Amino acid sequence: MTGTDTLFTNISQLVTPRPGVQRGAAMGDLSVIPDAALLVSDGRIRWVGPRAEAPGTAQEHDLGGVAVVPGLIDPHTHAVWAGNRLADFEARVQGVPYEDILARGGGIRSSMRATGAASVEELVALARPRLQALRTSGATTTEVKSGYGLDFDAEQKMLRAIQALQAEFHLTPTLLIHVPPTEGRTEYVRAVCEELIPEVANTGLAETVDVFCEKEAFTVEETRQIFVAAHANELHFKLHADQFHAIGGTELACELRALSVDHLEASGPAQIAALAASNTVATILPGVTLHLGLPAAPGRALIDAGAAVAVGTDLNPGSSPVFSTQLALALAVRLNRLTPAEALTACTVNAAAALGLGDRAALVPGQRADFLALHSADWRDLAYTLGANPVRSVFVSGSGIQAL
Ligand code: NIG
Ligand code: FE
Repeated sequence: MTGTDTLFTNISQLVTPRPGVQRGAAMGDLSVIPDAALLVSDGRIRWVGPRAEAPGTAQEHDLGGVAVVPGLIDPHTHAVWAGNRLADFEARVQGVPYEDILARGGGIRSSMRATGAASVEELVALARPRLQALRTSGATTTEVKSGYGLDFDAEQKMLRAIQALQAEFHLTPTLLIHVPPTEGRTEYVRAVCEELIPEVANTGLAETVDVFCEKEAFTVEETRQIFVAAHANELHFKLHADQFHAIGGTELACELRALSVDHLEASGPAQIAALAASNTVATILPGVTLHLGLPAAPGRALIDAGAAVAVGTDLNPGSSPVFSTQLALALAVRLNRLTPAEALTACTVNAAAALGLGDRAALVPGQRADFLALHSADWRDLAYTLGANPVRSVFVSGSGIQAL
């Protein structure tokens, strides 16, 4: 034992999926240890098990008889933006479709204009409370995308804001190629591949490249070109696909072994079969179904077919103003028909796999000691609660960052 060992005790239930990506029926297979303890050493989990079998005489931290689960991973957010989409929201609830607003130069393009006009410091100040809200809801690692850059300088400005926020949060930065310019899209895609992606790779500002593959955004062929450039520059790759139309993005993502393909509201049997036969994680975003009134992504059918499903908030001003990763988990149970156990797996180890991370999200020895103490003695309150926060305390690398 060293001075940095802490034994967390008085845990009613210690609940965890197995480490690593879980597919199909294995997503529902959790370990639940009653009256448990958790030993943390230098920010990593050293031991978990029944309290009666806890090793050594480490300093004790009494958690008060509540359930403990892994810290959640939010694998899909657009937490950096300026301006707002409140006028779009009012129009949409009166019947104007999201895609029509985008086609008229509003929507994502209006967020691009506002974000393009903001400084890095302004973007950091706007994003900080959003990331704090996600962390308070249980997210200990969060993916954040660019994608509201009017030009390459603005894209890199967004990535620098994400980089600055990494001093306060565990973030994984993604370069999102979001919507093409209204003129000169061939030249734009060429410049993304030959200038932006190599620059971002050289400066280390992003780990992954994402593309919005959709009728109103990039074609499958353009997406393929961008993937080739990401691969050549040793960046991971993921896609927004099948949000409104299944135009082939999911099949491309599976063929190219993308880390994940995200959205899937319009996916059908062919896309479900492609995902089930691939190593690509199917990331579903129930906040979009709720906010835009889209069909729910086929979470149940994906798991039944044997796919690995992850869940994220997709926090963004246009399609998902969901500031709680726990709420995304709870919505996946209602809207996508995941069981509570599958939803916990989707928001932990499978979300980590969607980010290429294998060192966190399961409470087993050797993993980062990122975990949550709930308000409840029964972990299922995490999936049950709507509109209040069932997370009492958030621990990152064994240190509490939210007051008990
Ligand atoms: O994941 N659909 C594409 N991108 C985002 C929405 C961004 C926005 O509306 O500002 C999404 O839904
Ligand atoms: Fe998104």
